[in-house]
Amino acid sequence: MPPGACAGGIAVVIDVLRASTTIITALAHGAAGVRPVADVASARELAGRLGPVALLGGERGAVRIEGFDCGNSPLEYTRERVAGREVVITTTNGTAALAACLKAQEILVAAVVNRAAAAAACRTLARVAGCDAVHLVCAGTDGQVTAEDVLAAGGILEAAARDPASAGDRLDPAAIAARDRWREVVAAAGDEPRAAIIGEFRRSLGGANLVALGMDDDLIAAAALDALAVVPRFDRASGRLG
Ligand code: MLT
Repeated sequence: MPPGACAGGIAVVIDVLRASTTIITALAHGAAGVRPVADVASARELAGRLGPVALLGGERGAVRIEGFDCGNSPLEYTRERVAGREVVITTTNGTAALAACLKAQEILVAAVVNRAAAAAACRTLARVAGCDAVHLVCAGTDGQVTAEDVLAAGGILEAAARDPASAGDRLDPAAIAARDRWREVVAAAGDEPRAAIIGEFRRSLGGANLVALGMDDDLIAAAALDALAVVPRFDRASGRLG
């Protein structure tokens, strides 16, 4: 994404496998806040400064970083572990995508687990903040767009399209392709959209990598369509998602 591409608009960061799903889950389970950090040294330093309230999480190569409390699996961010804590997190692509959106007027985090809530939050925020552009930022893997993030973006667009106010929306070709992909996958699935989403995840670049590492349960968790209503919003002053 060119620097400044989201300037003045709403950026919605999507790293469905797994950073955005994990951040949403941590906040839904009562974390006081989530502080995304681009690199490992800065994450350790920030957690040290915050003291015992901090919970240090993140991955490199999808694996928990040495000495960190948690990796990047949404399943690790249980209520027992995260309630009241400040989660400091660094991931390979997700937190980097957040950092790339800092010129946006507003930054939200979305995934399949909160896609209907995210679509509604975008519409409300666009009206309140007077933004006329919403950028669905697919984090991808090492600069490559990945199918799992595009599918989640399509799910958000599909939810947005259900609102009567969507009559005035204009989508660019990439957004139309994402929404159509979602429709193709979910319509073909009938009453089992979650199973179809899991299948898509397993065939995706990021998903296949996680399955190879024995983390298939994370794909299942990430496919829990509309299970959570939390839409993390970045607060520039504190550097915190809440
Ligand atoms: C990332 O931010 O690169 C991903 O969430 C990686 C992962 O799934 O661990």
